[in-house]
Amino acid sequence: MSGVILRHVSKAFGAVQALDDISLEIAPGELITLLGPSGCGKTTLLRSIAGLERPDHGEIQIGDRDMTGVPTRERPIGMVFQSYALFPNMTVRQNISFPLEVRKATVGHIRSRLEELLELVRLTPQADRYPNQISGGQAQRTALARALAPAPDVLLLDEPLSALDALVRTRLRDEIRRVQQLVRTTAVYVTHDQSEAMAIADRVAVMNHGRIEQIASPPELYETPATEFSATFVGSRNALELPVHDGQVRFGDAFHLGAPDGTTDRAVVFFRPEDVHVGSNGDGEPATVEVRIFLGATTRLHLVTETGGQPARLYADLPSRQALAYEPGTTLSVQVDPADIRIFPAGD
Ligand SMILES: Nc1ncnc2c1ncn2[C@@H]1O[C@H](COP(=O)(O)OP(=O)(O)O)[C@@H](O)[C@H]1O
Ligand SMILES: [Mg+2]
Repeated sequence: MSGVILRHVSKAFGAVQALDDISLEIAPGELITLLGPSGCGKTTLLRSIAGLERPDHGEIQIGDRDMTGVPTRERPIGMVFQSYALFPNMTVRQNISFPLEVRKATVGHIRSRLEELLELVRLTPQADRYPNQISGGQAQRTALARALAPAPDVLLLDEPLSALDALVRTRLRDEIRRVQQLVRTTAVYVTHDQSEAMAIADRVAVMNHGRIEQIASPPELYETPATEFSATFVGSRNALELPVHDGQVRFGDAFHLGAPDGTTDRAVVFFRPEDVHVGSNGDGEPATVEVRIFLGATTRLHLVTETGGQPARLYADLPSRQALAYEPGTTLSVQVDPADIRIFPAGD
């Protein structure tokens, strides 16, 4: 097993700095997701690892081998794209064995490897079908098996679920994770979907404008986003911009806390809907229920407060049984534990 090391990798397209000094160390067998909005450089980073883009600066190493100048076909990688990119005139079986034939593997090896791969992605019954005779999910599993056929050190996946509908998407997501853990290949997985990124990863690298804003395990990222961008991008959160007085930020009787160093007159606070404590005993800041949305085990309340004379909207998630008491129009009171609040200087 080999890991991947990137050192100070930069890449510009004309005036666009697609990658801006990226350093990243991926452990052998680790799955890292690159998460960020469209245009932040995810695909460029993946293509640089694959040797499909040549960085302007920096080094990329797979295992202990420097990849500079190594062409894509000689890199120990397998790729899966959003569009399945299967050969339409070849069956599932022929698509999967194609990379082995290119590498001139023996007939015996191809045959046994093929059975193994078909089992791995559970496509044995579909092995003799053509791409237009299988579903999108099956097509993507074929693409996965084809990428894994030469037993690459590193698997690169670029938004592999984007073309699929929601139900298939979660199933295939879990399937990719299962297979990756089984074959224990190092993997880099690109997505703009935060729940997908968190569900599948050992660590998530949050990207913005060609840089890595934060790299952390999913729980760590969810609990303690390091920057305002991470906090906005990860999880559904309440975000409020509030004035700072004497180094303190106060939101009525709901919470108050110290502003971070370097804050001038305004700060942005983030807290999760499940951390908003709702009560009817008057302790806290008054808030009116605007909308109540049943989500199953939990219910989300859309709340409006008039704190500081300005209407502010908040979300609170609570057990559905408790939420039954709160019809739209009800006034209740909200509190948030400062320990559950992330605070950043405004305009960071
Ligand atoms: N071949 C190219 N020529 C010019 N600009 C490019 C090229 N590839 C990517 N870019 C630009 O680089 C930036 C990053 O692109 P990309 O890596 O595709 O982002 P992402 O995959 O995160 O959506 C974008 O601004 C994009 O328009
Ligand atoms: Mg992309």
